[in-house]
Formats: sequence, C-alpha cells, structure tokens
Amino acid sequence: MSITVIGIGYVGLVAAACFAEMGNTVMCVDSNEKKITDLKAGRIPIHEPGLDEFVLRNLHEGRLKFTALLHEVAPSDIYFIAVGTPPSDDGSADLVQVLEVARQLGRVLRGYAIVVNKSTVPVGTADRVRQTIQDEIDARGSQRRDARRVEPDPHDERPADQRENGRDETRRQHLGHYR
Ligand SMILES: NC(=O)c1ccc[n+]([C@@H]2O[C@H](COP(=O)([O-])OP(=O)(O)OC[C@H]3O[C@@H](n4cnc5c(N)ncnc54)[C@H](O)[C@@H]3O)[C@@H](O)[C@H]2O)c1
Repeated sequence: MSITVIGIGYVGLVAAACFAEMGNTVMCVDSNEKKITDLKAGRIPIHEPGLDEFVLRNLHEGRLKFTALLHEVAPSDIYFIAVGTPPSDDGSADLVQVLEVARQLGRVLRGYAIVVNKSTVPVGTADRVRQTIQDEIDARGSQRRDARRVEPDPHDERPADQRENGRDETRRQHLGHYR
C-alpha cells in the first residue's frame, strides 16, 4: 500500500516508520526543510526506542522517503495528517495547520483517496477537512471552466471543424497541469 504522512513530528515519524516496517511504501512530508534534510541523511530528530533502526532500515531499503513538497508526492492510497494542533488562547485546538494541509491536499488530489486525521482534533473536524479539500477541488474545476472559454482566433483560416479540434488541443495543453 502507498501511504503519505504529512507532519513528521513525534506522531508522524513514528507512524510512518511503523507503516514502512510493515512493508508499505511511505512518503513523509514536512514543511520543515531542515528536518527533511536531516532525515534523508539518516539523522533522527527525536528519541523513541527502536525508531532509529526502523527509520534507517526502511530508508535504506527504499520504503521510507522524505520531502518538503506535498505536490511532488506520487498519488497515495491513504494520507495521514499529523501536523501540530497547539492550544488556542481559549484552550481549544488550533486547526490552522490541519486546514492548511487540507487545502494543499485539495490542490494535489487527482482521484479517490482516504484522508485520516491523526492530529488530535475536536469532533466535527473531519467534516471541515473534507469540505476544505472539496472547496479546493471545486476551485480547480472553476479554473478549468474559465480556461475552456477560449475565444476563436479571428486569424485562424482553417475550416470550422478543424478550428474546433485545434482549440481542443490548445485547451488540453493549457489544462494539463490541473489534471
Ligand atoms: N506527541 C505526542 O505524544 C502526541 C500524542 C497524541 C496525539 N498527538 C497529536 O498529534 C499531532 C502531532 O503532534 P506531534 O507531537 O507529532 O507534533 P510535532 O510538532 O512534533 O510535529 C508536527 C510536524 O508538522 C509539521 N508541519 C506543520 N505544518 C505543516 C504543513 N503545512 N505541512 C507539512 N508539515 C507541517 C511541523 O514542521 C512538525 O514537524 C498533534 O495534534 C498532537 O496533539 C501527539
């Protein structure tokens, strides 16, 4: 199975290493580039019994990979969100990081995927995360529709049916990065 874990802290790194040890391919994503550089070099930022062994073995055998760029990750079956949820002023969990990851996921997801909230979040957060992802997907759809409104080229002297094909091709090239 292909798994992506977003947020490689105490929770994310341990979970990712265990998933890889079970034989899954695991992509670890963290916005902290220094942490990613260290992990790629086999430097483990936290201590947990057995963690070094799991990380180094799976890194070496290619099941555990690290990146700071979610949009470079190949499609996964499951995405785990494991970013921080520090307490807000009123004591409730601050969901800024979780919802930012949801927005990023909405920009990169291209098909069915399971998204798991591994961060500690209040009841109802799954709905907010799903809606945030959907809003980004819908926004992508609007961009596609806008891009489809291509005006005919007045200098194009080809027959109308060929012009249409030509426009379709332009459209495909133009929209390629949204798919
Ligand atoms: N540490 C624990 O023992 C523990 C136990 C149970 C639950 N939790 C919960 O799990 C969650 C994570 O806790 P933790 O201790 O692992 O936190 P952490 O601070 O150790 O790790 C969070 C990681 O998320 C990264 N991050 C933040 N925004 C990001 C983004 N947009 N994209 C990618 N990475 C991003 C940070 O750089 C950091 O490395 C929290 O909700 C916490 O409450 C933690």
